[in-house]
Amino acid sequence: MASISLPNFSFFLLLITLSFYSSCDALTKCCITSLFQLGDSIADAGNVIRIPGASLLARAYGPPYGETFFNKPTGRFSDGRIIADYIASSLNLPFLNAYLDKSGVSFSQGVNFAVAGATAMNTSFLAERNVGVVPYNVPLPTQLEWLKSHLQSTCGIHCKPTLRNSLIVLGEFGGVDYWNSFSQNKAETEIRTYVPFIIDGILNAVRELIQLGSTRILVPGVFPFGCLSAYLTRFPDTNPNAYDQYGCLRSYNRFATYHNIELKRALENIQCEFPHINIVYGDYYGAFRTIFRFAPWLGFNPSTLVSACCGGGGRYNFNFSAGCGSPSVSACPNPAQYVNWDGLHLTDEAYRRISNIIINNMLPKFGCYGFGDSSVLSSY
Ligand SMILES: *[C@@H]1O[C@H](CO)[C@@H](O)[C@H](O)[C@H]1NC(C)=O
Ligand SMILES: *[C@@H]1O[C@H](CO)[C@@H](O)[C@H](O)[C@H]1NC(C)=O
Repeated sequence: MASISLPNFSFFLLLITLSFYSSCDALTKCCITSLFQLGDSIADAGNVIRIPGASLLARAYGPPYGETFFNKPTGRFSDGRIIADYIASSLNLPFLNAYLDKSGVSFSQGVNFAVAGATAMNTSFLAERNVGVVPYNVPLPTQLEWLKSHLQSTCGIHCKPTLRNSLIVLGEFGGVDYWNSFSQNKAETEIRTYVPFIIDGILNAVRELIQLGSTRILVPGVFPFGCLSAYLTRFPDTNPNAYDQYGCLRSYNRFATYHNIELKRALENIQCEFPHINIVYGDYYGAFRTIFRFAPWLGFNPSTLVSACCGGGGRYNFNFSAGCGSPSVSACPNPAQYVNWDGLHLTDEAYRRISNIIINNMLPKFGCYGFGDSSVLSSY
């Protein structure tokens, strides 16, 4: 009786693995040769600061933004890197340049289309519901048009191989739609009715990306809004039970969870429709909560978890009339001990920890094994 002995079988697997890797550039990770990022200020790496008239609202063009890592402001809403940068590094790719950067930078390994203030829904959808957006809004559908026009001008009809070997990070989206609605005093019951539209908008984008030839798409959920200094400052509650053990507002976290559950379910459905495409949910919420839970072990100061490092004073060091980047406002001396950077965005260190969790979860689901940085696991 012939039977396959275990060593032979392993050798066979090794051969398969070797032939799989040898078909790609040895420097790339599992054949991902480019990265495309869409999103809002959580992922913006220099688009909004290049939109005329936007700079007053988006102060990331000035110090102390970028002080920790780049030693200068880059348009990222952080003291350093953002999740998009950590994802790029995990794939051995360079940091993505901003689409609107026309100074001759390279886009050969991807493009960042994310713009601060970007909504998932278009401006007219929100206007019909009396939700104002920034005048230069570049919502998800417009960012998709940017992506298509970029592909048209670089690879034209030969884009399918480019997209097949790329990773698309779609979002997060929705964070701005919700913040604008809540901060413009919309009732939660009404804002809940936007959720199915927002999920649909994201799903339509996924479908379109697949039609263009994408095979790997990461779709992040939203952060726990109730843990952001801006929400905490805008919606103070006299009832102590409104807050959880970290000082986060439970109701806004519940809302974020509602969006995330709906998104995750929708992605599972669309995954069934396209079994050969990898559609992965990025659990930004869970990763954020994990770093809160392990804050003392990760070097974060537990007593300032919900306070901004860079802000104009007040209970949460967040002041709507004196935001980070304003002349009178300075950053804390130890940003790595803070999760919140400017009240709506996180520090380089918080993004690093969150990214480690997202990356370690994502790479195997995209068929990438032997990933390197597991420091977040070893630090628990
Ligand atoms: C805006 O979005 C809505 C809902 O997705 C859609 O029905 C409408 O056609 C869009 N309008 C524009 C101008 O793109
Ligand atoms: C917020 O900033 C304004 C303008 O600088 C200032 O007048 C006010 O006192 C600040 N509020 C707090 C709570 O620090």
